[in-house]
Amino acid sequence: MSSDKKSSRNRAPATKAVHSGRAPHDNFGFVNPPVYRGSTVLFPTVEKLWKRDQAYTYGRSGTPTITALEEALAEIEGGAATALTGSGYQAVSTAIVAFVKAGDHILMLDSVYQPTRKFCDHMLARLGVETTYYDPLIGAGIAELVRPNTRLIFTESPGSQTFEVQDIPAIARVAAERDLWLLMDNTWATPLYFRPFDHGVDVSIHAATKYPAGHSDVLLGTVSANAACWERLHEGFLTLGACAAPDDVYQVLRGLRTMGVRLERHEQSTLEIARWLEQQPGVACVLHPGLESHPGHALWKRDFTGSSGIFSVVLDGGGQKQAHAFLDALEIFGLGYSWGGYESLAVHVYLGDRTIAKGPYEGPLIRLQIGLEDVADIKADITRGLKAASAVQVTA
Ligand SMILES: Cc1ncc(COP(=O)(O)O)c(C=O)c1O
Repeated sequence: MSSDKKSSRNRAPATKAVHSGRAPHDNFGFVNPPVYRGSTVLFPTVEKLWKRDQAYTYGRSGTPTITALEEALAEIEGGAATALTGSGYQAVSTAIVAFVKAGDHILMLDSVYQPTRKFCDHMLARLGVETTYYDPLIGAGIAELVRPNTRLIFTESPGSQTFEVQDIPAIARVAAERDLWLLMDNTWATPLYFRPFDHGVDVSIHAATKYPAGHSDVLLGTVSANAACWERLHEGFLTLGACAAPDDVYQVLRGLRTMGVRLERHEQSTLEIARWLEQQPGVACVLHPGLESHPGHALWKRDFTGSSGIFSVVLDGGGQKQAHAFLDALEIFGLGYSWGGYESLAVHVYLGDRTIAKGPYEGPLIRLQIGLEDVADIKADITRGLKAASAVQVTA
């Protein structure tokens, strides 16, 4: 069911996002595949039951709806195959656990999504796996951190709070030379704007909760691997019992069809707002890789084909009081975690657990997810926030 047309391999990712993972003429011509809900799958004979001799054997290990999204994502991103998990976080933990054993060591970027850090510091440590945090800007220098028991390097580019762009090809060369698995959380760029397998990544992880779902109503994770890693990843995935709910899978399949056009709007609005913010009073700098002023801009331009809708703004001085005044003054932006949905969101960035990628920054960091609202309205809302923050500075 990989696509509705045979010549699909050379198509652009945005076209694949519309057409992959569906076969209307296998479904009476209906444009979208049906939702198969189920645990039990019946076998026609005891011989087939005993040998598990049919395409689907039990709901947890796959359904045609799950296959549709798995195949679509593998095709868009260019992996050998994809597995779906109940959340993006579960995709991260499943992928790591699939590749490590007690006594191993892993290299983890310091700017990683915070729950991933927690997973390493608590669960992995308890299982006897040691984590070393590295500077996300380390590039080829990561070779110096590799130990005889190092098994994998985990990357996330750009980091989803401070937006450091990693030199993935340079890290991939080290991983290949030292026989390490290279994992990447590719959620920010989506499969449309960064193609990890073309840059030497072995395992690509997404919180499909974000742009693929697009409406803040679903949690879902995806893990794709190249041919060399797929068997091991899939074995870990099945052994851990990770799986995704059919209706959530369908929602993401639906979201995927419009992800290209939504992303274009997120990208355009976000870049316009980020550039405008650089000129606003009360702003020290804007952390968005698409801006010429960003230290990772050249790498981003070299490796990525677009940018999505989150970035951070650094206020010009102050601390928590100023950040909270900014956030409390917002009327359009929701105050809440996550991103990738249709509405604008804002949070105060916490860097307290970082050991390397922690600044210094001139003031507090606010992360903005720019939604699909009118840009002038969003700017007016941010202006309210900046005024409120600077009013605290005057009276403090
Ligand atoms: C970069 C990144 N990776 C993974 C996740 C986890 O995804 P989920 O919320 O679906 O568990 C998030 C969620 O915010 C994220 O920002």
